[in-house]
Amino acid sequence: MEIRVHRAPQITADITVPGDKSMSHRAAMLAALSDGPCRLRNYLRGEDCLGTLRVLRQLGVAIDDDGNGEFVVHGVRGRFAAPDTDLDCGNSGTTMRLMSGLLAAQSFRSRLTGDESLSRRPMRRVMDPLALMGANLETEGAGDCPPLVINGSESLRGIEYRLPVASAQVKSCVLLAGLLAQGKTTVVQPVPTRDHTERMLEFFGVPLERSGERISVTGGLLPIARDFSVPGDISSAAFWLVAAAAQPGANLVVRDIGLNPTRTGLLAVLLRMGARLKEENQTKGPGEPCGKIEILGAELRGTTIAGREIPNVIDEIPVLAVAGALARGTTIIRDAAELRVKESDRLAVVAHHLTAMGADVEEQPDGMIIRGGRPLRGARLTSHGDHRIAMAFAIAGLFAEGETVIENASCVETSYPGFATQLEQMMEGNG
Ligand code: S3P
Repeated sequence: MEIRVHRAPQITADITVPGDKSMSHRAAMLAALSDGPCRLRNYLRGEDCLGTLRVLRQLGVAIDDDGNGEFVVHGVRGRFAAPDTDLDCGNSGTTMRLMSGLLAAQSFRSRLTGDESLSRRPMRRVMDPLALMGANLETEGAGDCPPLVINGSESLRGIEYRLPVASAQVKSCVLLAGLLAQGKTTVVQPVPTRDHTERMLEFFGVPLERSGERISVTGGLLPIARDFSVPGDISSAAFWLVAAAAQPGANLVVRDIGLNPTRTGLLAVLLRMGARLKEENQTKGPGEPCGKIEILGAELRGTTIAGREIPNVIDEIPVLAVAGALARGTTIIRDAAELRVKESDRLAVVAHHLTAMGADVEEQPDGMIIRGGRPLRGARLTSHGDHRIAMAFAIAGLFAEGETVIENASCVETSYPGFATQLEQMMEGNG
């Protein structure tokens, strides 16, 4: 599938986006571990999160689909059934890394596989802490890449683990294994990363100790069945937020959107770049903050995105780089070498594609320097099978002279079913 994009008229829109990918994975996993049925509303029907449901079903978890966007997951009290075949995690690093924590604590062997992109992503980062807990994991791919074979053990022990990389996936893997291990497991993160696992564990009745960047869970206390409503995914909204921010006069409202402060770094960056925006948290109480974002477009200026801010915008950097190319002045992205081991090498691909569109970009080992403000021209670009690359460059195409074609764009389905339709509506002027 190809996505064809041309310059958009003035954006004036009031939209919602599909459910949050990170929260959907976690809600399904905690519901599966719980002691009864849990109704999950607005669960993301993207390929990644449907993949997590498929894997859970292979592990003996009953999941009903009511066809109206809601799933009911019947918890199995922490014990899965041995699968008959490989567990195919598709394109989803979150499925493979989080499930590895849960599978390490089961009494059977499992083998996790992935598509071409996932088969190139490093698994050493989850194997090391799980081995310290007493699990036995091996990879069959070169360089610690999948397939990942887990010889589970029901007698994992709690550890204290300092994360060598700022990764919410690794943190979550260790906490989930800790939930099923003996004693206390503590994770210490170098900088804050998305805290959906912590919030969701607490929402499902599992007590945590949280002090600064130390998070501890005590094994044996399983989630208590509850229903959960998934807010819209701010990483999906990011594409429209950047499009509106960079178009003087644009006016966009995004409703029912997740506003977890470990995910809203994009808004802080756009504010620094000169966008006018307002966020309104409309929830109260525990769980995930959710509400409304209103943004007014302006002529953007360059900024620096680096250090502690990076984990908070990790999935938004491709589209923020596009914002940088559209802004006046220089945008510097630093400390973002992790982007090289995402669904594609996002630093190399973003630098290449922006250059192909006429932008002035210098790739760096851990980021890039973008001298913004040059007019963009349409180009034929491949997604490299990476959903966020496909969507970020569709947004660039809205600002380019001539047509932009994104090849191999069906990957948008991994996180954003309906993206192409919403894009059409923006191009027709009725977003
Ligand atoms: C995710 C964490 C991030 C992010 C990914 C989803 C999660 O990865 O890039 O899309 O759901 O925990 P890392 O934590 O490995 O950086």
